[in-house]
Amino acid sequence: MLETLILAAGKGTRMKSKLPKVLHKVGGKPMLQHVVDAAKKAGSSREVVVIGAGAELVEKSVKDVEFVLQAEQLGTGHAVMSAKEKFAASKGTVLILCGDTPLLTGELLKNFTAAHEESKNAATVLTAKMPDATGYGRILRDTDGTLQKIVEEKDADEIEKKIHEVNAGVYCFDVQKLFDALTKVTNDNAQGEYYLPDVLPVLKDAGERIGAFTAEYAVETLGINTRVQLAAADRAIRMRKEQALMEAGVTIIDPNTTFIDDEVQIGQDTIIYPNTYIEGKTVIGEDCAIGPNIRFTNMIVGNKVTAQFSYCHEAEICDGVTLGPYVHIRPGTTIGENVKIGNFVEVKNSNVGEGSKLPHLQYIGDTDVGAGVNIGCGTVTCNYDGKKKYRTTIGDNAFVGCNTNLVAPVNVGEGAYIGAGSTITKDVPKDNLAIARARQTNIEVWNDKRKLS
Ligand code: UD1
Ligand code: CA
Repeated sequence: MLETLILAAGKGTRMKSKLPKVLHKVGGKPMLQHVVDAAKKAGSSREVVVIGAGAELVEKSVKDVEFVLQAEQLGTGHAVMSAKEKFAASKGTVLILCGDTPLLTGELLKNFTAAHEESKNAATVLTAKMPDATGYGRILRDTDGTLQKIVEEKDADEIEKKIHEVNAGVYCFDVQKLFDALTKVTNDNAQGEYYLPDVLPVLKDAGERIGAFTAEYAVETLGINTRVQLAAADRAIRMRKEQALMEAGVTIIDPNTTFIDDEVQIGQDTIIYPNTYIEGKTVIGEDCAIGPNIRFTNMIVGNKVTAQFSYCHEAEICDGVTLGPYVHIRPGTTIGENVKIGNFVEVKNSNVGEGSKLPHLQYIGDTDVGAGVNIGCGTVTCNYDGKKKYRTTIGDNAFVGCNTNLVAPVNVGEGAYIGAGSTITKDVPKDNLAIARARQTNIEVWNDKRKLS
């Protein structure tokens, strides 16, 4: 049984942010959640997260873990120590991770943990060869290559700073040996902190085996301390996501201008055109053509949907819909199968039935539109009287003429017709024609009269 301890109490001073560092998002998901997910994928059965800076917010933002408070942030060693009680009954290996390394993968952690257990080490540290090692702890090895200790950037001399092998901030420990040895770590260093890596020489001096395991892909161990690193991690995680989608049969025309969040799902043979943002927990079916210039946030999208130049959020679009250009679908909306909707249309908190057409310049709010309905250009549901919102219903196969105002609450019956330019304030019964506009008056010889005056 693998248990994990994740350090996430630091403020993240170098981010210069009001938000705790570990809640900054990469690939649309808080960094810390990425780390938790990687631990779970590696087979961890329990994750304890050390929180401190912004504790309440962090607690609310991450699911399915236990929390422990480090009231004062006195260093990574101190952070581990504050979780001692949580591991009082534990035996065997504890995996320790930092909340600011979001690119870690389940596979890497699994291989790393397996290597630790095979080696019978008391402690194993994950290392990486970084072309630019600035900010990381450097790995010092004896002449025979065995791990000696880790020196932090701020404590390193000029020669040590030239070392490219870094501490990834990922460790496996024999859990009880770790807590024993931690009592011997001091804060006698440049930052006056209790460093977790300092536990390694303590264990070594006590005759325990310590070792290092080098990650195959250094990028997976990227630590985020600054916004520049945040952007790099975001790019890397999105590329990884896009690669996985392409490998699963999704076409992405231009991965560089496509932004797909980590939890998004997209079906086979869907094509994603450039300048497209697919965010949150959006699910898209098969054989769709999405983009160019689409933003979907938390959307459910069926199969064979075509969408371009539009923003849709917290809503559902069923199979075969043609959407756009210039559509805004707002929360609580369901667009039924084979609906055509586009050319400057806004729909909010509404249901649109199968095969209906909303082809130009409409505002449809708080409305239930039946199947086979045709809504003419410029139609507006007047759903708000300045205080309250009211619903409109439009029955199956109704025909709403151009430039109609539907003043809610109002019902338009099945098969009813509304003459163009009507302002409908009363229900229209089934199969009736409603015309609600001033009659046209033609005044004869108008120009002749004008000439006389
Ligand atoms: C740390 C390591 C460094 C390593 C790097 C990898 C130490 C002393 N240094 O440096 O060797 O190369 O990570 O990315 O461990 N935290 C707490 N409580 C604290 C201090 C920190 O929970 O009192 C948490 C932070 O929230 C963060 C993690 O520990 O998630 C690492 O802290 P950070 O300050 O980012 O350490 P680095 O300087 O990056
Ligand atoms: Ca860090």
